[in-house]
Amino acid sequence: MSDDNRVYIFDTTLRDGEQSPGATMTREEKVRMARQLETLGVDIIEAGFPAASEGDFQAVSAIAAAVKTPVVAALCRALASDIDRGFEAIKGAQRRRIHTFLATSELHMQHKLNKTPTQVLDMIEAAVSHAASKGVEVQFSAEDASRSEPAFLVAACERAINAGATILNIPDTVGYAQPAEFADLIRHLMTTVRGAGGVTFAVHCHNDLGLAVANTLAALHAGARQAEVTLSGIGERAGNASLEQVVMGLNTRPNYYNLTTGIVTEELYPSCRRLSGIIGQPIPPYAPIMGRNAFAHESGIHQHGVLKDRRTYEIMTAESIGRKGAVVVLGKHSGRHALDAKVKELGYALNDEELLVVFEAVKQLADRKQRILDEDIEALILEKVLRR
Ligand code: KIV
Ligand code: ZN
Repeated sequence: MSDDNRVYIFDTTLRDGEQSPGATMTREEKVRMARQLETLGVDIIEAGFPAASEGDFQAVSAIAAAVKTPVVAALCRALASDIDRGFEAIKGAQRRRIHTFLATSELHMQHKLNKTPTQVLDMIEAAVSHAASKGVEVQFSAEDASRSEPAFLVAACERAINAGATILNIPDTVGYAQPAEFADLIRHLMTTVRGAGGVTFAVHCHNDLGLAVANTLAALHAGARQAEVTLSGIGERAGNASLEQVVMGLNTRPNYYNLTTGIVTEELYPSCRRLSGIIGQPIPPYAPIMGRNAFAHESGIHQHGVLKDRRTYEIMTAESIGRKGAVVVLGKHSGRHALDAKVKELGYALNDEELLVVFEAVKQLADRKQRILDEDIEALILEKVLRR
């Protein structure tokens, strides 16, 4: 696979992720998280928004000093003062990027920025060339790109390229895009923008309609090569595209995407767990890949299949993302095969008749109790068979 097939993972857990209500982190917590992101193998860590507060500035500087391999990015509005502050914060990093952004949709330009399209183009040029004069990588984001007029978006991208940006980010800021439409937009930009061949197209998708991962994957399939994501999908409002879902989407379907990342997938679960511990928000049980139920099988038919060959009902192994193997959960839909396996796992040897007795008792209990624990099974074995 050539370098053209390599997707760069830009993690913004510490910036957009921290904008998630209740996800504020201290400087020390951010540094711990950044070290874990380095172990995970992300290519770029967006460490924060240094002009936003003294605390953010300090946190970005501390991360810049703490990590070695990933590029450290600082978010800056399209203002020289923000860019100067951002540069100061990342100065100590081995690899540095200034990420400057400005909205390009009519709605934002008129009602938020109060600027004409010409003024916005001039601001993009000024901000990007100021950032480039610092001698670091420069990324430009056209905020609200998916709701921008395509011809204007093309003009904005060209101004950013001519001023020195080498990464162009196309955010779906309000999670409005649809996968096929978003993929078309990426293809359109890659074939229309002059100078597009010399830059990397990035995407940054929000989850307002639950499509952040789908839009990100569609854009990567269309040619984007940087995915902006967060662990567990935390972020502003309904969140961002989840890192683990995007990466495992690519990994699970290699023939469809033919794309690779530098992510050490076995570090995915430890990374999400660490984040969860730091922000004090549990991973929901039904969360794809990371949730408690993601590798748990309750129905008898599924359990029978999984016990014979896990691939019958699992599209990835739990071990590949750093978790323990498939969990067979006993409940009212479970079958005898699952109970047999569980009994053996607990260290008991029951004959067919004894197993049937315990099976009936488990079924009765499952009508009253949502989740049957190992302790319940053991108690039933003792009560109904061994101490009868
Ligand atoms: O959602 C967004 O548009 C952003 C930009 C700053 C990239 O977070
Ligand atoms: Zn965002």
